[in-house]
Amino acid sequence: MPSSAHKDHAPNLLLAGFMGTGKSALGRQLAKRWRRPFLDTDELVEQLAGTTIADIFAEHGEEHFRALERKVVESMLPEQGAVIACGGGLVVPSGMGKLVRSKGVVVTLFASVDTILRRTSGNSRRPLLKSDDPEARIRELMKKREQAYLQAGIAVYTDGRSLQQLCVIVERVYEREVRTALKPPKPPRR
Ligand code: S3P
Repeated sequence: MPSSAHKDHAPNLLLAGFMGTGKSALGRQLAKRWRRPFLDTDELVEQLAGTTIADIFAEHGEEHFRALERKVVESMLPEQGAVIACGGGLVVPSGMGKLVRSKGVVVTLFASVDTILRRTSGNSRRPLLKSDDPEARIRELMKKREQAYLQAGIAVYTDGRSLQQLCVIVERVYEREVRTALKPPKPPRR
């Protein structure tokens, strides 16, 4: 458990990254370890819209879904103390990376196309991957989004690492970021 876990002012941890990189599984695990609440922006979007992600995409399109994601980040996230898994495209639209970073420490998870493909097959919450060639779709989306992911948070590569190992890595990153953010600025040199 990070040393800041018992403090009321513990910053949120937000997990960003492509679909199937393990944000929810890792987020849930960390929240359990740290005894903090776990939130998932996909669930909050569904709550806000009163319907499923598949329906939001089908009835109103992706732009509307992104507007709902923005609303969730702006007004439905706690200020601190939570572990939050972000929908895979949430940090991609202009300005969203910055907005998400204003809510806590952001870690972006990466995984290989093979891993993503394996983990994402047959999930109705991922209408963007509905395609005759999901592998090509993943490659195409990943290429478009890579820069946004790298800019949004600290990159952690998940391939070949167990959930347990990832917990330790992300916990270290989080601790380091919190320490750096809390460090008082150096006095100016005379
Ligand atoms: C999306 C990822 C999904 C969900 C929606 C759009 C994306 O979340 O928000 O289908 O654009 O990458 P997960 O990453 O939790 O699957």
